[in-house]
Amino acid sequence: MYKFVINGQKRLKGEVEISGSKNAALAILPATILVGGVCEIHCVPDIDDVRTMIDILVQLGASIEWISKDDLRIDTSTINSHTATYEMASKIRASCYLLGALLGSRKIAFVAPSGGCNFGVRPIDLHIKGFKLMGATHTLEHGADLLKADELRGAHIYLDMVSVGATINIMFAAVKAKGTTVIENAAKEPHIVDVANFLNSMGAKIKGAGTDIMRIVGVETLKGGYKHTIIPDQIEAGTFMIAAATTKGDVLVKNVIPTHMESLVSKFKDMGVNVEEFDDSIRVWIDKPINKAVVKTLPHPGFPTDLQPLIATLLCFAEGISTVTEGVWESRFQYVDELKRMGAKIDVNGKTAIIEGVGTLSGAPIRAHDLRAGAAMVIAGLAAEGTTEVYNVRDIDRGYQQFVEKLKALGADIERVSIKE
Ligand code: UD1
Repeated sequence: MYKFVINGQKRLKGEVEISGSKNAALAILPATILVGGVCEIHCVPDIDDVRTMIDILVQLGASIEWISKDDLRIDTSTINSHTATYEMASKIRASCYLLGALLGSRKIAFVAPSGGCNFGVRPIDLHIKGFKLMGATHTLEHGADLLKADELRGAHIYLDMVSVGATINIMFAAVKAKGTTVIENAAKEPHIVDVANFLNSMGAKIKGAGTDIMRIVGVETLKGGYKHTIIPDQIEAGTFMIAAATTKGDVLVKNVIPTHMESLVSKFKDMGVNVEEFDDSIRVWIDKPINKAVVKTLPHPGFPTDLQPLIATLLCFAEGISTVTEGVWESRFQYVDELKRMGAKIDVNGKTAIIEGVGTLSGAPIRAHDLRAGAAMVIAGLAAEGTTEVYNVRDIDRGYQQFVEKLKALGADIERVSIKE
């Protein structure tokens, strides 16, 4: 086990290279189950959640090798199981994608409940609704979801809520179903487009990814033999942009798709944070106090919920009273108590946090509640006066590649320190 020890108030300066998207990788890896051959996936982030997904696919029978630092060769033609046990599935949220991928390829999936960050309940009722409309039966057997179908048929599926997971899972079940599937009120996150591009490059017929109506015409087979490069991680890019602003730094964030960052850039402009956009990089710097802001998280293209704890941390240093409203998850403010122990003035009222800017925070031992809240705690420590120790960093390691190394290269005083279990 590790903790991060941070000596704060060092301005971040320099350049940082963003890795491939975690959430795209965690969907594209199970998507390879649908492909009847070998694929190469490039720009795969080497993070714990990806390693867990690789282990799961290998346990199902796939052959997977790292062919270079960020590139994987995957052969799923050897998969001989449709079962993901509790021990396998409960480590990550993305294991729920095995339901759609196994159902779509083998017409049967038996998958234990997925895990991941705890933001309150994380149901999969919309995923199941979609599978059933396509002709699958669903039962719970020994605490795991069992899906079966003699044949999957295209269907018209309206999602009552915009759900990233349901959109991707239904797309997986639909690519080899008989006929056309329409997903209405689909999620539009950039990684959904990336997953659809991956499947289309293998022969799928998916249209409308990135809009709220997707049309998927089922095909007999998906052929391997292609290479796919994963898009840059929008949330990692946002994390470093917010870290630069919070530490009053000057950072060029490289390997980003600026259009994916529009909601954050627009909020930064309201707050007086300087932003300059280039083709595939964004510079963020501060030369004056930051203004208060009103933030509400929404599905894409709204402000991403996964940046909510991070922008809230930045707003602790803004002038005036800001509000941050969580519009996606039931319970995503558990980290606030840690910030309050550092001197932040935050009141949470239902789904809204009211944040009164304070001049500084004071370093303290704090806990990473989940992946993005953990990154927010690190940023709080980087900007705080004195020493901060962040515990439970394995949640941060699940989703950030070389986080400590990248921060150190920007001038942060942060160390990973081994601690006893
Ligand atoms: C994914 C991301 C997560 C991000 C979230 C929203 C991965 C591995 N995780 O999670 O980081 O915070 O998108 O951008 O990519 N819902 C239902 N029923 C369902 C499914 C979802 O009610 O069947 C609700 C959820 O409770 C939540 C909302 O819909 O309130 C959005 O959830 P969803 O978009 O499905 O999130 P995930 O795919 O789990």
